[in-house]
Amino acid sequence: MGPGDLENILRLLPPSAGRNVLVGLTAPDDAGVFRLSDEVALVQTVDFFTPVVDDPYRFGQIAAANALSDIYAMGGRPLTAMNIVCFPCASGLDLLAEILSGGQAKVTEAGAELLGGHTIEDAEPKFGLAVTGIVHPERICISTGARPGDALLLSKPLGTGILATALKGGIIEERDMEDAIHSMCALNAAAAEVALQAGATAVTDVTGFGFLGHLAEMLVQKNLSCRVDVSRVPLFSRAREAAEMGLVPAGTARNREFLGDRVRLDGVDGITADLLFDAQTSGGLLFAVPPERAEAAASALTLAGTPAAAIVGEFLERGEYDILVT
Ligand code: CO
Ligand code: CO
Repeated sequence: MGPGDLENILRLLPPSAGRNVLVGLTAPDDAGVFRLSDEVALVQTVDFFTPVVDDPYRFGQIAAANALSDIYAMGGRPLTAMNIVCFPCASGLDLLAEILSGGQAKVTEAGAELLGGHTIEDAEPKFGLAVTGIVHPERICISTGARPGDALLLSKPLGTGILATALKGGIIEERDMEDAIHSMCALNAAAAEVALQAGATAVTDVTGFGFLGHLAEMLVQKNLSCRVDVSRVPLFSRAREAAEMGLVPAGTARNREFLGDRVRLDGVDGITADLLFDAQTSGGLLFAVPPERAEAAASALTLAGTPAAAIVGEFLERGEYDILVT
């Protein structure tokens, strides 16, 4: 669902009033946080979607890495997970077994335990997980804490939505997007550790609303703008080529429409713009750090195995636009 539709639906629900709800319905964050004690809060999230690659095992890995990411984005540690499965049984249970074992492998890699799940028959396969983690109530990373002067870092390149659409359309094959598949399978655990060590003031992850959509959420409720240096934003190798063929998913167009004139694209070509709005699956962490710690954080990300990570922008006092891309 597009960001505008979701906002309108959520507005109809009464906000949770309990004093232990630390992050709830009114926050733009994808995970909720509930205080259990002065020392421990629960972090809960759920995410599932249709296959983005043909290989069932890797689809399982991607879905799990994507679901776990919202725990990491809150500064949390994942503890348990439950599968959510929609599957057409006629396509063969071996396929489902592959999806589930890919998912479990990632849950295990994250140091969490898979406890169970729920399966229904459906025409189109869908897979994802509900994940529960913990965080110290005073060390929650919200998405809206950035300050003017902070640097903006991105830990993974962009383009998975456009590449997955090209794959579905038979324009490219999986081997043409190996870099993107490898990246989607990768946990955001190491990037989250770097963000925490660097004293990140705001953290989120880049998924369905695209790079600019999630960046816009970081500016909500704040007197802030962000300037993005488009030449520093990392892209997957074949993403531009796929975008040039016009393979832009519907979600990407919705993201662009929703942000409208909050974003100014100064001298940015249409193809690059598509990539900046592109809906991502299992995208990287997007986080703000004090400027004097930005270079060290970028190097630490490279050392931690996210070689394309980069400083991509800077937060400023509120200007004419929420986001200025140059
Ligand atoms: Co999510
Ligand atoms: Co998220």
